[in-house]
Amino acid sequence: MLSASGPIGVFDSGVGGLSVLRHIRAQLPDENLVYFADSGHAPYGSKPEEFVVDRSFRITDFLLSRQIKALVVACNTATATAIHLLRDRYPDLPIVGVEPGLKPAAAKTITGVVGVMATERTLSSNKFHVLHQTLNDRTGVHFIMQPCPGMADLIEHAELDSGPIHALVRRYLVPLLEQDADTIVLGCTHYPFVRHVIEKIAAESGKPSITIIDTGYAVARQLTHLLDIYGLRHSETGQAATMQAYTSGDPKTIGHLIARLLQTEMPVAYISL
Ligand code: DGL
Repeated sequence: MLSASGPIGVFDSGVGGLSVLRHIRAQLPDENLVYFADSGHAPYGSKPEEFVVDRSFRITDFLLSRQIKALVVACNTATATAIHLLRDRYPDLPIVGVEPGLKPAAAKTITGVVGVMATERTLSSNKFHVLHQTLNDRTGVHFIMQPCPGMADLIEHAELDSGPIHALVRRYLVPLLEQDADTIVLGCTHYPFVRHVIEKIAAESGKPSITIIDTGYAVARQLTHLLDIYGLRHSETGQAATMQAYTSGDPKTIGHLIARLLQTEMPVAYISL
């Protein structure tokens, strides 16, 4: 039985999902949140499909044991691989996923060329193929797929402005710009944390006015909508909402990263699933 006073569960392979969680906090400040960072098993993007599905089930079972009333799969890779299976297995649980923002990108591009930066697993998924085909047929926009191995991993290791992250972003971004992409889709929830690097390298490459598409805001809006439909909005209690994080990685490292990325403290506990 789902209760309006229960928390919202949010998970990702690591800290990337915090780029979605920050929008949830802003739009739903009265909701209690439980975040799971599967850093002990990150990155998901280069792992087999069955692995990501198995992790998604285990994490959802754990979050349900924390009495969550809704789930946000704040990971493009897990959404692409497992969300239909999660919806089959937990038919009563409201579930929101994230997917690369091809639709808003198609509406923004002027050159008609859009670069999609995401993990290999997301880009090779059936769900993504269908999205791509549909948008391409409907709009005629040319989407260039750019797998970005190593990027989520560096961000997971707090490399947010280092030489290696600049080099990797340059390697993946510049070919997209050279092919006339004026709009870049951040198809992995880790990437918004290096948006400043992407903007800097675009400017250095003579393209200072690219449009960057991050769907975090839209995902939080969709969650709000779903909570309203289910009648699960937490009414104001006058008490500050709580946030608790769990990780399969090192809780100290994750705690530091959360503080850096969200500018707020969150208790983090280790759990092996
Ligand atoms: N943050 C994840 C995503 O949105 C996955 C990154 C990874 O673990 O490879 O795809």
